[in-house]
Amino acid sequence: MDGEKGILRYRGYNIEDLAEKSSFTEVMYLLLYGSLPTASQLAVFEGSLTQHTLVHENIVKVFEVFPAGSHPMGQLMTLIASLSSFYPDSLNPNKSPEATNLTIIRLLAKMPTLAAMIQKKGKGHPVLYPQNKYDYVTNFLYMTFGNVTEEFTPDPVITDAMNKLLILHADHEQNCSTSTVRIVGSSHANLYASIGAGIAALWGPRHGGANQEVLEMLEYIRDNDNGNVKKVVAEAKDKKRLLFGFGHRVYKNFDPRAKIIKKACDNILKKLGVHDPLLEIAKELEEAALNDPYFIERKLYPNVDFYSGIIYKALGFPTPMFTVLFALGRLPGWVSQWKEMRERNEDIGRPRQIYTGEIQRPFVGIKERK
Ligand code: CMC
Repeated sequence: MDGEKGILRYRGYNIEDLAEKSSFTEVMYLLLYGSLPTASQLAVFEGSLTQHTLVHENIVKVFEVFPAGSHPMGQLMTLIASLSSFYPDSLNPNKSPEATNLTIIRLLAKMPTLAAMIQKKGKGHPVLYPQNKYDYVTNFLYMTFGNVTEEFTPDPVITDAMNKLLILHADHEQNCSTSTVRIVGSSHANLYASIGAGIAALWGPRHGGANQEVLEMLEYIRDNDNGNVKKVVAEAKDKKRLLFGFGHRVYKNFDPRAKIIKKACDNILKKLGVHDPLLEIAKELEEAALNDPYFIERKLYPNVDFYSGIIYKALGFPTPMFTVLFALGRLPGWVSQWKEMRERNEDIGRPRQIYTGEIQRPFVGIKERK
């Protein structure tokens, strides 16, 4: 990443090229193994993912304990961490490179199955089992939007959009969730536990949870302020609220992912024939903020989360699922960073603190304390 110039590359490849020309599974391979796959390498990789998409039937029972309306991210965190119970071999991350690779493939393969189950169970619909005839992304869309009662016809516009969005989220240096995955993994905790912790970090509204917040903020403007963005901008300047989808710790010029997503958003909505007034509100909000000294002085620009929710909504995802989609995209980045750390046998992460309290005090018994 170059935050000043707005550059993002995965292993040397520009994000613009990857988003335009590659598939999500190619990017997964690139992040995991260091180079873009040849056609035969990709076929082997995709084949091995296909072999591990099913989850243990008892996992379906876990859904019975979640109360109605429980947040998909809490469910995802639980389900991913619980994979360690179903694959006890994964408990030792140092067993062998082959065993580690199998643990990784299992996780990558099962994540779409679990994410789709969360959406289906949230609606009270029967879950759909993965189909080997579909590629990774189409399979996810089938399990999410297909129905037991009828044939599923993949829509290439939706599959392309989903590939693009997942690629744009795939890796992003030492952000909050990735650093969490690394620090948990540095204790030699197993992969599933480390990724579960990363999902927890991603959930927060300042990180991945911002995509849900953006959509709710746009709906708030539509429903309460008659589509007028002025009040929300003024409240953000008064520190009464955050303008979600704005600002970034590293990008201080523009977020290259946001640029791609904004363009994609226009195209996808047009192709799907969706007219969403939220898109107009988002554009007005962006315009208002980009011309306001408060945002200019603080170098606050739209980030990856600003337009992604409008696309997810147009594709048919319920708002609470948005951060799960971010997690699905970020998974290969988390896993690759965890894998790199284990291969380098890095030391345990151990930040130190600056303590500002009393240095030493005599102990006082409870009866004498005032
Ligand atoms: N709305 C209003 N004011 C803001 C915003 C915002 N979205 N972001 C930062 N500011 C202000 C902040 O109050 C501070 O003002 P002042 O100088 O008067 O104290 C100044 O801008 C600098 O902010 P900061 O908090 O020091 O910036 P940061 O680098 O620590 O935080 C951020 C980065 C992304 C956490 C923050 O911009 C934010 O909370 N944005 C909204 C949430 C969001 O969209 N998150 C998604 C980030 S990108 C995808 C991801 O990583 O998941």
